[in-house]
Amino acid sequence: MVGSVIHARDRRAAKNFRPDRPRTWDKVMADHTEDAAADPWFRTTSPEQAIHLCGTAFDPHRLTLLGQSNGFGLTQRVASVGPSRLATSPTPQPWRWASRRLAAAITSTFRSKAALATPRPHAGKRIHWRRRLFAKSIQIGKSMVLNRLNLADLDVPVIVAPMAGGPSTPELAAAAPNAGALGFIAAGLLPADAFAERIIAARKLTSGPLGVNLFVPQPSAGTPATFKAYAAALAGEAEHYGVRLGEPRYDDDDWAAKLDVVHDLRPEAVSFTFGLPTMGGCSRLQNAGITTVATVTTVLEAEMASARGAGALVAQGPSAGGHRATFDPVAQPACQPLAVLLAALSARVDAPIVAAGGLATSDDVNGVIGAGAVAAQLGTAFLLAHEAGTNPVHRAALKDPNFTETVVTRAFTGSYARGLRNRFIDEHEAEAPFGFPEIGKLTGPLQAASSKGNDPHGMALWAGTAFRQAKAGSTAEIIAELT
Ligand SMILES: Cc1cc2nc3c(=O)[nH]c(=O)nc-3n(C[C@H](O)[C@H](O)[C@H](O)COP(=O)(O)O)c2cc1C
Repeated sequence: MVGSVIHARDRRAAKNFRPDRPRTWDKVMADHTEDAAADPWFRTTSPEQAIHLCGTAFDPHRLTLLGQSNGFGLTQRVASVGPSRLATSPTPQPWRWASRRLAAAITSTFRSKAALATPRPHAGKRIHWRRRLFAKSIQIGKSMVLNRLNLADLDVPVIVAPMAGGPSTPELAAAAPNAGALGFIAAGLLPADAFAERIIAARKLTSGPLGVNLFVPQPSAGTPATFKAYAAALAGEAEHYGVRLGEPRYDDDDWAAKLDVVHDLRPEAVSFTFGLPTMGGCSRLQNAGITTVATVTTVLEAEMASARGAGALVAQGPSAGGHRATFDPVAQPACQPLAVLLAALSARVDAPIVAAGGLATSDDVNGVIGAGAVAAQLGTAFLLAHEAGTNPVHRAALKDPNFTETVVTRAFTGSYARGLRNRFIDEHEAEAPFGFPEIGKLTGPLQAASSKGNDPHGMALWAGTAFRQAKAGSTAEIIAELT
């Protein structure tokens, strides 16, 4: 019985909650007019109430549900989505749940009581309300289980890549689905609660699909001795920028907490970089209705991802901007061209494949689609987008004719990444050790000071080989040009 599994989370709301007084959604809207004017999200105070609100006026074309119970101090929320906003959504996802307890209750109800799935006409009486609630929960359970985003179904086969370190704002992530594509929130290098806030902020800006990206923690590839030697080599830089070097500390980027955020907030897709979650971790997310996407750079990594049950792959070629997604932290990144990697993966893997790396034009996008990809993922092409949070020094460098090429470097983070070639790389690449995230923490204060001083030569300027073709404009305009 649903009621025995779901518990009210807020005593006051539970007291005010009147299941015997079903209301239409319009009435609910009217009751929340003030809230809605300030904030388009409806606050629901218990899973039970959420079911009730929706159960009284179920219309999948008008509603999207969201919520969370992840211990980050954020209340559960129910979003209302008007028909016009949803009409612009490429893949309407009418029902989205973020209460773990609610989801568990609904799923178990769905599994055990599927035979009772036929909804009865609502007669406004208490007993009928219970039946209706029960039937709705079964419908919701069904959609939770079956409505997983297929990357082959995007209206526009373009994905705005996750870009940690600033560019991936909620505005950028949301602008993509609003233009028929898919956008990503990058979790890398963010605390888990800030990551959660960004998903919620993006969700407020779109009713379309959202993806999130997590860095998978790799074993430390450095040693105290190698960090010490690099710190000594960077002493002159510290003096130049007038800062102390950072502490080369290892951490796992809040991995477990971020997985919980993903599970609770249920974006449509989650992609992984530098490896994969465990088999159990993958299936937990997939069972929650989230499409799991593995970023791979070789056939071997793709096979590992398939064995873990990844729902889709991003094939990252060597021209890609930012970090190479290579699973092995000390391996030389693969250098086979994207087209070769794509052909090899298409021949071996059933999962949908997204192509990434060095793509900048509609011909590029059409080319990879013609070669078997379901979509193209572009990062550098969006670094100059109005909605991107790209650092101004980085933006200026992308347009500066003095920067003529990109190189793959370990100098800034201890892990291979492609960026605009600058003085720091020229002077320190040869002595840079492995060690992600430790080296990033060591160079962090230098990079911050370089940025603050408007100096593009002491900071990472991640960009792919096609950086010259990046254009300023709105995300919608850039996407329109790409298709
Ligand atoms: C500034 C920047 C930051 C990036 N950050 C991430 C990230 O956080 N996670 C990730 O999986 N990929 C990241 N990437 C790589 C992109 O996901 C994608 O593979 C790449 O941008 C594709 O190549 P392109 O830049 O030539 O379009 C980043 C790329 C750039 C340019």
